[in-house]
Amino acid sequence: MADKISFDAPRGMRDFYPADMVWRNKVFDAFKAAGEAAGFEPYDACVVESYELLERKAGEEVGEQLYHFLDKSDRHLALRAEMTPTLARMVAQRQKELHFPLKWTTIAQCFRYERMTKGRKREHYQWNMDIIGEDSVLAEIEVLGAAVDALKRMGLKTDDFKVHVSSRKFLGSLLEKSGIPAEKHAQVFLALDKRGKMPDEEIAAMLKDGGLSEDETKATFAIMDLKSYEGSPELKELFRLAGIAGFADSLVFDIGVIRGLSYYTGIVFECFDTQGEFRAIFGGGRYDNLLTTIGGEPTSAVGLGFGDVVITELLKSRLGEGAVKRKGTSIGFMTEGERDAALSLAMRLRREGDRVDLALRPQKPKKFFSRASEANAAKAVFIGPDDVNAGKARLKDLATREEKEICL
Ligand code: HAM
Repeated sequence: MADKISFDAPRGMRDFYPADMVWRNKVFDAFKAAGEAAGFEPYDACVVESYELLERKAGEEVGEQLYHFLDKSDRHLALRAEMTPTLARMVAQRQKELHFPLKWTTIAQCFRYERMTKGRKREHYQWNMDIIGEDSVLAEIEVLGAAVDALKRMGLKTDDFKVHVSSRKFLGSLLEKSGIPAEKHAQVFLALDKRGKMPDEEIAAMLKDGGLSEDETKATFAIMDLKSYEGSPELKELFRLAGIAGFADSLVFDIGVIRGLSYYTGIVFECFDTQGEFRAIFGGGRYDNLLTTIGGEPTSAVGLGFGDVVITELLKSRLGEGAVKRKGTSIGFMTEGERDAALSLAMRLRREGDRVDLALRPQKPKKFFSRASEANAAKAVFIGPDDVNAGKARLKDLATREEKEICL
C-alpha cells in the first residue's frame, strides 16, 4: 500500500475552498473596482524573479524571508515577496517608451518565509497601487483615496479604521536638527520600525550599533513623542488635500510609522483597525530612489501594498458571515418527471442573465432548500408534479421568504 501523503497544504501556504473564495472575491472585487474608479491601469508579471533583484543588503526582514533556489541551469531565482522590485524592473526596462506619470495596479501573489502569527501567512495576495513619475503629493492622495474607497466598498465604516501617516523626510530633518547625520538615518529607521514590537532597551541597543551616542539616542526617543506635523509642508498639504478629497477623517499623524522597507524616502503610511486588534491592513509610501538603485533613470514613485489576509479576518469579525451577498437562483425538482421542466427553466433564466444552479437529481424539498441556502443563493424554485401540470411554480426569495409565481 502506498504511504499516505499529508492532506495539509505546506505550512503557511493556502488552499481556497469555495467558501473561502466567496470572501476572497469580495475583497478582490473591491480592490479592482477602487483601482478602476481611480483610473489605474492593471498590469501583471512573473512570480519568479532573479535573486539578485530581490536580495537586500540593508538587513531588512523581507530579504531574510525570501524563498530562493537554483534552477536546473544554476540560475539563482526567488519567489517575489512583494511587487515593488518587479514593478521597478518593468518600468526601468521601458523607461524610454512609457508615458509618465504611470498609474498602475495589480493583485500579486507573494511569498515570505514568515514566522506564522495572526494575519501573517507564508503566501498572500497583495493589491498594489503605484504612481511612478510624479513628485506632487496629489499622487499620495490618489493612492490613499483609492485604498480608503476599497475599504468602504467592502462594507467598513470610517470608524472602523485609521490610516497612520508620517514622513521619513520630516523625521530625517528632525534627526538632523538633533545632530544625527543623514548617513545614520537608514539604521535609525530600521531600529525605530521595531518600536512596539520589542522593548525600548533593545531599540536603544540597535541605535547604539548604528553608531548613535547616548545623547543622540535620547534625542531620537524624544522626537518620537512629537504629536504635530506643523513642521512638515508636505504633510500639511497631504492633510489639506485629503480634506478636499473627503477622507481627512480617515488620516491621523503618527510619527511612529516608519515602515520596515528601506526604500521609502518621503511620506509613509500604514492602516490599522481602530480597535487595535489586527496587524496592518495596508502600508506604503514614497520611494523616489528605487529605480536608480536597480540601475534605471531617477524617477519619483509612491504606492501601497494591501494584503488579503488581515482584511479578510477584519471583515469576518466586523461584518459577520451575512456580509457576503446572496446571489443567483437555485432550481430543484422532486421526481424525474419534472427534470425537463427544471432544465428548460434554468436555460431560460440563464439567457436572461441570471446565475442559475440547477440540481442534478431529484431531491426532497427540505434537502434542496437547505443546500440552496448554504450555497448563498438569493432565490430558489422547487418544481413538483403539480407545478408541471399547472405550468407554473413558486420563486422564493431566500432572504425575505417572499414568494411569487414563475411560468414554466
Ligand atoms: P509591506 O508593508 O511589506 O509593504 O506589505 C504590505 C501589506 O501586505 C501589509 O500591510 C499586509 O497587508 C500585507 N502582507 C505583507 N506580508 C504579509 C504576510 N506574510 N502575510 C499576509 N499579509 C502580508 C510592501 O510589500 C510594499 N512593497 C508596498 C508598496 C507598494 N510600497 C510601495 N508600493
